[in-house]
Amino acid sequence: MLDEVKRAAIARLWKRKLDQDLKKLPQSERHRNLEPDSAEFICAVAAGCHARRLAEIGGSSGISTIALAEAARQSGGSLTSIEIEPTRQAEARETIAALGLADWVEFVLGDAGEIIPKCGALDFVLLDCEKEDYIRFFELLDLAPGAVVVADNILSHNLFDYVAHVRKRSDVESITLPIGKGLEVTRLRPTLVQ
Ligand SMILES: C[S@@+](CC[C@H](N)C(=O)[O-])C[C@H]1O[C@@H](n2cnc3c(N)ncnc32)[C@H](O)[C@@H]1O
Repeated sequence: MLDEVKRAAIARLWKRKLDQDLKKLPQSERHRNLEPDSAEFICAVAAGCHARRLAEIGGSSGISTIALAEAARQSGGSLTSIEIEPTRQAEARETIAALGLADWVEFVLGDAGEIIPKCGALDFVLLDCEKEDYIRFFELLDLAPGAVVVADNILSHNLFDYVAHVRKRSDVESITLPIGKGLEVTRLRPTLVQ
């Protein structure tokens, strides 16, 4: 779970996003962030399953980065935060440092399509980038047995193809949860110990 300091940091970023939406700023000047409830959820799930190798695809200005960095701190792991837009990532880096979470985050700037194949095996992944890339990036992931992938915007965008794609695999369980803008939570079956 998040503590009050991290919740307050998330609330500040979320308020700015809502203010920008209200002002109807051009899309390029608006921040797109994960909903606070979704941030709380991914922190609890990732920490709760003791995920040690975490990644987020689309870190932006850092709401999900705070949540997953805190999970990594609790599990003694580390988060790879991938973002293509430098100013957004620079802001997230500052926020994470101010919260004392820098030791648990590796920031990688660039196209996730090139970075994911270098990440190695992962225990927890947040997919929160352009929606047309979800299937391609999911397929690039090296998922450890028992790994969890959470994809955002399932109920706000047309992501039927992504949901159908992950659910057709015989080695996963997957469910859409009405948290925030809708999360598809997909879990690779763990290897059974005989
Ligand atoms: C919805 S925002 C992410 C919000 C973030 N998870 C948060 O909680 O604040 C999507 C982000 O994905 C980034 N992005 C889009 N395509 C990408 C790609 N191919 N590689 C890396 N980042 C990408 C965008 O620049 C944008 O900042």
